[in-house]
Amino acid sequence: MCGIVGYIGDAKKTKQILLEGLLRLEYRGYDSSGIAVLNKSVTNIVKAKGKIAELQKKIGKEKLEGQLGIGHTRWATHGIASEVNAHPHTSGTTSVVHNGIIENYVELKSELKQKGFKFISDTDSEILAHLVESGLENGKSFTESARGAFKKVKGACAVVVITEREPEKLIVLRNFSPVVVGLGENENYIASDIPAIIPYTNRIVYLEDGDMAIVEKNEVTITDLNGTEVKREEVLVSSDPASFEKGGFKHFMLKEIYEQPRSALDTLRGKISGDFSSIELAGINTKQLNKIKKIITLGCGTSYHSCLIGKLLIENLSRIPVEVSIASEFRYSNPIIDQDTLVIVVSQSGETADTSEALLEAKRLGAKTLAITNVFNSKIARESDQVIYTRAGTEIGVASTKAFTTQLLVFYILSNILGKAKGRISEEDISSNVKSLVGVPLLIEKILKLDDQIKALAQKYNNFNNFIFLGRGLNFPIALEGALKLKEISYIHAEGYAAGEMKHGPIALVDENVPVLFIAPKNGANFTKIIGNLREIKARNGLVIFLTTEKGADEYKEYIDDLIEIPNCDYNISPIATIVPLQLFAYHIARIKGTDIDQPRNLAKVVTVE
Ligand code: M6R
Repeated sequence: MCGIVGYIGDAKKTKQILLEGLLRLEYRGYDSSGIAVLNKSVTNIVKAKGKIAELQKKIGKEKLEGQLGIGHTRWATHGIASEVNAHPHTSGTTSVVHNGIIENYVELKSELKQKGFKFISDTDSEILAHLVESGLENGKSFTESARGAFKKVKGACAVVVITEREPEKLIVLRNFSPVVVGLGENENYIASDIPAIIPYTNRIVYLEDGDMAIVEKNEVTITDLNGTEVKREEVLVSSDPASFEKGGFKHFMLKEIYEQPRSALDTLRGKISGDFSSIELAGINTKQLNKIKKIITLGCGTSYHSCLIGKLLIENLSRIPVEVSIASEFRYSNPIIDQDTLVIVVSQSGETADTSEALLEAKRLGAKTLAITNVFNSKIARESDQVIYTRAGTEIGVASTKAFTTQLLVFYILSNILGKAKGRISEEDISSNVKSLVGVPLLIEKILKLDDQIKALAQKYNNFNNFIFLGRGLNFPIALEGALKLKEISYIHAEGYAAGEMKHGPIALVDENVPVLFIAPKNGANFTKIIGNLREIKARNGLVIFLTTEKGADEYKEYIDDLIEIPNCDYNISPIATIVPLQLFAYHIARIKGTDIDQPRNLAKVVTVE
């Protein structure tokens, strides 16, 4: 959570680089923000509650020049969203920005209070400023003071600190929270995420956990916390600047929904043979996969939903037993794992703390690990034995859309590979599955043509306070995902259930005020059963929206209030198709309600706290 940016170089550029960087990071957290600019040896700080626009307003025409600066956009963990709790935090000559949580802050705070330091915020981060200042007051150098402070704090941290006493450097710590250094000519950059600085440099140094970087205008020195110098390679990253523009769309979310045909194509590229006859995963050790006896898939939120679908696909095609775990539960669940277990971790960002901690636990227990992630060189990508990248492009909207559909594609590809490795599917099956896969971009394009119809449905249904989404088999997780989309961006209560489970309790909720949205492709194994569930809902005066494939509803129109009909497709592909209208439905309802679609309240795009 939270976004960090730092700069050292041209005094006239500092303010603009910090503010632009924060705007690009706003998706990480947006309850308050602030910058500190060091002009010779005077620090100027401006902070504001709310979005970066509030900070910009406050800064107004102020010049705020200075040779270096730090900026932060916050997602509150300790202390409410307020100006006083916004970063940077200061102590005497020291200012600091911090991502993460300091676990031992209670004891450190009381130690510092005894030494006479006064706390003005409710945050744990303020401790860092006092710790560094305390070292400086005791005559230590900035580097020694920062190192001493960093050694004392426990917990996941990314920190950037500056001081008026040595106003020609920034000091950075990475400890289980991402932060990179960007290299320039006579200038250098720091960011929690590359998008903040990509317009200025693509020369990136990824810091490792336990690294401390001393960043000067013409030099970057990286050491461990004992002061021993460590070498980190410079990496040239590519990034499409168009990902950071809305490209004529009102919101990133809508743009990203519409990008799905393209992101599907990009994800398939290189994974399907040139003659469309087979599936290949470059760099994936299929011999190792062949030995796998059990798989666990895990992730959070939308990525967890793709894990649920991944399980069904893998089991269907390869007969390898798969368990699914919510990443935040996995670590504490005493999982049964051995060297024949493959743990597949799924994360759009590759930085989610719950997921990366689960990954570390899986490794500790001896599992083989495979990541499915959208962010090159992310923490989860680096920690896993093997990686399959989704090629969705940067996803900015907090509500995950194109990352989800590309994760499903990867799961389908992987299932085919595992099926082949286990001798469970033939070459003919694979080449027929490849045909379905290559048809996905066009399929999504056709579904996007339903946008006007979905918009009209949103007009009809936006005033309801409760929704139920129902599906079976591969489309039960789609019910969960459809409900999650509606909850997170339109703040409407929505529940996803396995359709057959309704009669065991939740059906008590159903009346004419609770629309029920069925997800039921006609070729689903349980289609006739879901029709039974449809009748049960109608018998209780439920309002029914029925999402199915061509002609799927022909015989049941009397039970259906509104129909969404998508083109026919292979059942294994159907979740990639059925989610698209639900993404649009949530989007249009949120738009009518006037919520902040790309940055919904209380959320952050990347959740780096457990
Ligand atoms: O980056 P990750 O895929 O690890 O993120 C996991 C969840 O935080 C994420 O999917 C979240 O649920 C989305 N906001 C859902 O739209």
